[in-house]
Amino acid sequence: MSADTISINSQMNHFDSHDSVWLFGYGSIIFKADFPFLQRRPAHIAGWARRFWQGSHDHRGTAEAPGRVVTLVPQEGAICAGMAYLITPEVFAHLDHREKNGYLRVVAEIHFSEEEKTDGLLYIASEENAAFAGPADEEEIAWQIARAAGPSGRNSEYLLLLAQALRELGSDDAHVFAIERHLLRLERETAGR
Ligand code: BEZ
Repeated sequence: MSADTISINSQMNHFDSHDSVWLFGYGSIIFKADFPFLQRRPAHIAGWARRFWQGSHDHRGTAEAPGRVVTLVPQEGAICAGMAYLITPEVFAHLDHREKNGYLRVVAEIHFSEEEKTDGLLYIASEENAAFAGPADEEEIAWQIARAAGPSGRNSEYLLLLAQALRELGSDDAHVFAIERHLLRLERETAGR
């Protein structure tokens, strides 16, 4: 699959007849909502795990030193906490451009609580996309993140903002927090040299 997903996403017509659609954010969309929204609510999805497995050469890295950002991978029993935004369908054009590097819109069940759920959309970069970086040791991921920066800023800033946002949501995301711990240790070691 091409890394440029804008045209594929623009043909995704689920919810086109709806006045508004729920979007589930599990990465930068949690802490950077640079789009208009009607409502914003903490939410979670089931059966998916957040992983720093997507390469970033256009936002938080470069072609020479790609960074890593999050995507979702299927995992039985997993719960992924995030933030849901009620948006109008036109907002997807902006998001398709922002998340053009391999992310496709997918329909998902979004839970606001044990009792309350709705259908909505989220963006996933699957292993078929050209920028997929795949699994790696969490310490290695922290090394890669520590070295990477791109047009949207340092990759470490992305990781730290995401970890902070997850803490504020009360989410105990072992993968993200392990990478954060490694990164902070690497930064302390570098500063002490
Ligand atoms: C998200 O926050 O859900 C997200 C951010 C970037 C790409 C895809 C999804």
